[in-house]
Amino acid sequence: MSEYLSELGQRLCKGSGIEELMDDLGAALAEGGDDVKMLGGGQPAHIPEVNAVWRKRMEEIMASSGGLERMLSNYEPPRGNTEFLGALAKLLNQTLGWDITAKNIAITAGGQTAFFFLFNALAGRLDDGSQKKILLPLVPEYIGYANQSVGESVFVGVPPLIEKIGEHDFKYRVDFDSIEVSDDIAAICVSRPTNPTGNTLTDEEIARLSQLAKDHHIPLIIDNAYGAPFPNIIFTEATPVWNEAIVLTLSLSKLGLPGTRTGIVIAREDIASAVASMSAIVGLANGNVGQAIVEPLVRSGEILTMSKEVICPFYIQKSRQAREWVREFFDDRLPYRIHLSEGALFLWMWFEDLPISSEELYQRLKARGVLIVSGHYFFFGLKESDQRMAQHSKQCIRVTYTMEENTVKEGIRIISEELAIAYREGTL
Ligand SMILES: Cc1ncc(COP(=O)(O)O)c(C=O)c1O
Repeated sequence: MSEYLSELGQRLCKGSGIEELMDDLGAALAEGGDDVKMLGGGQPAHIPEVNAVWRKRMEEIMASSGGLERMLSNYEPPRGNTEFLGALAKLLNQTLGWDITAKNIAITAGGQTAFFFLFNALAGRLDDGSQKKILLPLVPEYIGYANQSVGESVFVGVPPLIEKIGEHDFKYRVDFDSIEVSDDIAAICVSRPTNPTGNTLTDEEIARLSQLAKDHHIPLIIDNAYGAPFPNIIFTEATPVWNEAIVLTLSLSKLGLPGTRTGIVIAREDIASAVASMSAIVGLANGNVGQAIVEPLVRSGEILTMSKEVICPFYIQKSRQAREWVREFFDDRLPYRIHLSEGALFLWMWFEDLPISSEELYQRLKARGVLIVSGHYFFFGLKESDQRMAQHSKQCIRVTYTMEENTVKEGIRIISEELAIAYREGTL
């Protein structure tokens, strides 16, 4: 079929890392049974207290007069449900001291769609023939961005400083000395906390990036899929920030509602309005369900207490437990390091001098029923000549720790066995 595809078709219709990942995830959840240990996707946990809230909300919607019909049978404006937008602006202003209105917000079909819109609206080919880029100041970065541009790739990535901590930990830091904001940069973009690493950029790093963006009159896009104030899967002190130079994206997915496909963009009025225009063209309107379920929780502030008191502690415990299992199963002689777990749903592991590639490790684990993600997918936008990163990218894997205890524990045990085999073979 590819001979019939347009340039856009060539880029978007022929598969991608994120498609493989979501296929693996969907198939494992639908038909994998107990034999598949799905440690590969960004699936949030089913937290009983949180699920009880969704169930209660659905019952309330069903019981209210006309509630179900409004939720299912109406098109809403492309920007989103007016009441929801108003309630969200009010909550953020009251609790964080921001100064936004509904005109600063646009709903999208999930955060993923928000990035497709933002990247393609801001970067790519301009009328004068020049090519604008998105600067990723800390790579590895979210795999879901990699294939999103409709023209040639738009990403310029900056490799991190790697700080080894103790015997088995490490942390990436933004290498500000290597960041160059040239005239062709349209925006700077970071996920905070970062998928895949669980890194959370400090307030100081965010302030410096925000200043850099302001100095160059370009936006700083902060992907807050896991961050504060909701879903608050963040294990360090990190202040949520917004100003006119920042485009902040949020999502209801990691709160526990990925099936509703609800993303939220908070930005300068002209940018929010551009996102709403794109929603109208691409999809007419967005899904109503997520907004309808969550709106009273936004109005009452329960969305914040639930994030702080239920969701955050749940994932801290999950992360801690997964790291304990790594310590238990990984032989101290295996040269493993785990990135400091400061948020999100993943352990990011680095195996120095790994004798096989992380992709080969993925294949061997898949054959044993354990699905992880090979780290190389997350290193994009870098210079091909960067040998240090090329090598590092083949030594890392991402392991999701949100699944049920036995799945995670058994998965980590099998990873340790396969690594021991790989290192043994490599030293023969
Ligand atoms: C960093 C990051 N951004 C955005 C998304 C998109 O999520 P959604 O489209 O479900 O809101 C994800 C999903 O895993 C993510 O990890």
